[in-house]
Amino acid sequence: MARRETVFFCTECGYEVSKWTGVCPGCHAFNTMTEAPRESGRPAGNGASVRRIDLPKPLPLSAIPEESEERISTGMEELDRVLGGGVVSGSLILTGGDPGIGKSTLLLQAARNMAAGGKKILYISGEESLRQIKLRARRLGEFPDELRFLCETSLDAILKLLQEEKPAVVVIDSIQTMMKEDVSGTPGSPSQVRECTAQLLQTAKSLSITVFIIGHVTKEGTVAGPRMLEHMVDTVLYFEGDRHASYRILRGVKNRFGAVNEIGVFEMRSEGLAEVPNPSAFLLSGSAEQDSGSVVSCVIEGTRPLLLEVQGLVSRSAFGMARRTAAGVDYNRVNLLLAVLEKRCRLSLSDCDAYVNIAGGLRVNDPALDLAVILALYSSYRNLLLPPHLIVFGEVGLSGELRDVPFTEQRVQEALRLGYTSCLLPRASLNRGIKAKGMKLIGAAGLDEAIRYLHAASPARPESEEGGRA
Ligand code: TYD
Ligand code: MG
Repeated sequence: MARRETVFFCTECGYEVSKWTGVCPGCHAFNTMTEAPRESGRPAGNGASVRRIDLPKPLPLSAIPEESEERISTGMEELDRVLGGGVVSGSLILTGGDPGIGKSTLLLQAARNMAAGGKKILYISGEESLRQIKLRARRLGEFPDELRFLCETSLDAILKLLQEEKPAVVVIDSIQTMMKEDVSGTPGSPSQVRECTAQLLQTAKSLSITVFIIGHVTKEGTVAGPRMLEHMVDTVLYFEGDRHASYRILRGVKNRFGAVNEIGVFEMRSEGLAEVPNPSAFLLSGSAEQDSGSVVSCVIEGTRPLLLEVQGLVSRSAFGMARRTAAGVDYNRVNLLLAVLEKRCRLSLSDCDAYVNIAGGLRVNDPALDLAVILALYSSYRNLLLPPHLIVFGEVGLSGELRDVPFTEQRVQEALRLGYTSCLLPRASLNRGIKAKGMKLIGAAGLDEAIRYLHAASPARPESEEGGRA
C-alpha cells in the first residue's frame, strides 16, 4: 500500500496532521494548514527498521560536566540585556518584526561591534545587493574587515561556506529569502522556511556558530512568518514600534539563556540605531504640562522600571452609542476598569465615549497600571487637575480595592530619580518598608480613598477654566 508522502502543518503554530483540516487542532486558527512533503529522515516505508539502536544512557545532574557558556557582547547594552548578557555561542536567535522597522540595521550594527572585538562575522543577505548594503553601512560609520558580506539565497551554498569558514557569528537576512534545493516550495513558503531553519539550527549546534535569523512578520497568507519558528530556536526577539515614530523596542519573548520579557529601547536616527539608556525620560519627554486626564505611572518591563504617561479622555457620545478605545493597554481590561469606576464611584458613563492611550506608543500588560488608567479617566470626566509631580500605580480589584504589586521599591526609586515627589499606591504596599527619601508615599486601601486624595490635593484651576461634568 502506498503511504502518503505529504503532511499538513499549521503556518501559525507548526502543528502537524496527516489530513487537511480547515481549523488547526493546535491553535484553532482558520485556514492555516499547508501541505508539505514529509520531512526527510523520517521513513515513509512500512518495513521494519533494521537500524541498530545504541542503548541511551541517562545521567544524574551531578555527573553532567559544568560548562560556562561563552558570551559575546554585541557592543550594545540594550541588546545584550535582552539576550541575557550577550550572545551565547552556538545559539540560534530569531529576530522578527515588521518590514522596515530596522532589523537589518540593528544586526548590521551588532555584527560590526562584534567584529570590532576580533570575531569572524558573516553577514549574508538575500534581500539587498552588496552595493545596497554598502550604501546603508556608510551611514553607520567604520566597518572592520573581520565582518564580511555575501549575497546568497541558496542555503546549501551557505551551509557549505559555514563548514569551511566556521565564523563565530552569522547573520541570515532574511529567512524568507532562503531556499533549499531539495525542498519543495518557493522561498518564504512554510516548508522552505521550516527546513532552512532546521538546517541552520543543526549547523549552529554542531559547529558552535551563533546564527541570527531575521524574519519578517507577515500577514496571514502563504508566506510563513517567524511565529512558526519560535519553538525551534533558542531565542526570539521582536522589534516593535511605530514606523512613523523614531523609537523602537526590542522585546525578548523567548530565551533559553536568560530572562524573557526584557526590553531594549532604541532610537532610529539618520546615522543608525542609538541606544536609549534612560527610557523613562524618553517616554515622558513629549508629555504636555499637567492637565486633566493625564496620569504618570510606573510599570515593570522585564527587570526594569519604566515611567510612562497614561492619557484618558471621557466625552459625551455624539450618537448615543458609547465608543471605547484603548491604545497600548488591553481593551477588555479598560472595559473592566470602566465598569469598576462606574459602579464603585457612582459615575454614569453609559452615555460617554472613553479613550485610553499610553503616550509614546508602548504596549503594556502590567496590572499595576490599573489605578493610573482609572484615575486618568476619572480626572478627565471631572476635569480635575492632578497634583504635580505625582505618580500612581496599583492593581484595582473588582470591588474597587487596591492591591499590592511587586517591585514597589524599584518603581518608587525610578520615580524619585526622575524628580517625582509624591506617590499614590496601594496601602498594602506600604507594609513592605519602602526606602525612598524625599518621596511622599500616600497609601490608599480602595479607589474611593485614592479619589478623595486627588480631590484634596488637586491644584485649583483658574476660575475661567472651571467646569467638569460633576
Ligand atoms: P531596515 O533595517 O532596512 O529595516 P528591516 O530590515 O527591518 O526591513 O530599516 C529600514 C528603515 O530604517 C528605513 O525606513 C530607513 C531607516 N533608517 C534610518 O532612519 N537611519 C539609518 O541609519 C538607517 C540605516 C535606516
Ligand atoms: Mg532588512
